[in-house]
Amino acid sequence: MRILILYFSGTGNTEYISRYIQNHLYTSFLSDLQVDRFSIESFSVDNIQQYDLIFLGFPIYALDAPKNVYEFVRKLPNLKNKGIFLFATMGIIAGNAFYRLYSSLKSTEIIHLGSFAIKMPGTDGLAMLKSTSRYVRKAQSRNYSKITKLDKYFETLPQIFETFEKEHSFISFAVKPPRYIIDTLFGWMFRMLYKLMEGSIKKQFWVDDNCTKCQLCVKQCPVNNIRLEADRITFGTDCIVCLRCIHQCPTESIQIGKSTIGKFRWHGPLGDFHPLSNKNKEKKESN
Ligand SMILES: Cc1cc2nc3c(=O)[nH]c(=O)nc-3n(C[C@H](O)[C@H](O)[C@H](O)COP(=O)(O)O)c2cc1C
Ligand code: SF4
Ligand code: SF4
Repeated sequence: MRILILYFSGTGNTEYISRYIQNHLYTSFLSDLQVDRFSIESFSVDNIQQYDLIFLGFPIYALDAPKNVYEFVRKLPNLKNKGIFLFATMGIIAGNAFYRLYSSLKSTEIIHLGSFAIKMPGTDGLAMLKSTSRYVRKAQSRNYSKITKLDKYFETLPQIFETFEKEHSFISFAVKPPRYIIDTLFGWMFRMLYKLMEGSIKKQFWVDDNCTKCQLCVKQCPVNNIRLEADRITFGTDCIVCLRCIHQCPTESIQIGKSTIGKFRWHGPLGDFHPLSNKNKEKKESN
């Protein structure tokens, strides 16, 4: 069986969970499995047919999957007889994000095998808190080497793998992601409010005098929304508010209004999230 782990990660949490899943699969089923892992930013959908089972991960933004993840899903070909696990990282609550993304995936005919959301530090809040705050200290001191909820979830995998080996199909496990009534009733209101807020947040991005014009932000923005123009860093209108540029800028020069000045920056659960080097590495792996 060939397994593909795909993820989008703005600030490192989802990338870390994708690694955690890969490590688990390697240590538990090493002899039988091939497990490849790519960011959706560097993966070509033309290569997807060679895989039997796909894990697709993303951060929750406003009780939903990010816009670029929906765009990626829309490019997928027919994936009949293949299975998919959806996973997400979130600060507090995922709402109907899985149900909504699954609705977009339906036309591919892929079989949904399960979906799980893992609580991680909210990287939106972190960028607006002082390094000394309780929430930041808690995020830094948490032990990320054991994620019990995920370990528990993995207990279902052997049965899924065995059935696939026998029947070359995931059909007997097909289930829809859950749909929560509270999100169905009020989620649209929340998303609408967030859309308004997002519009205003996007306009408040600016760069302070510490900027060295290294252009790391230009290269790392997942939607190419940042440019160096007339010797100044400028922001376009396509921002998905992933906050990668804020957290990754080496001189902490990118700000949202006044709320992020002198505040904490997050580099992933292990402090080793470098989206660009991951992109390059994975590109090499796919050649
Ligand atoms: C713009 C934005 C919106 C967010 N909205 C939600 C939300 O609705 N619910 C939630 O639980 N967490 C929310 N979060 C927190 C992220 O889902 C969480 O920090 C996630 O782990 C970030 O993953 P990443 O580091 O892979 O980008 C939001 C974060 C951002 C930046
Ligand atoms: S990453 Fe930071 S220092 Fe580098 S160009 Fe962007 S804003 Fe300036
Ligand atoms: S401008 Fe910054 S926050 Fe917006 S999409 Fe690009 S990297 Fe993410």
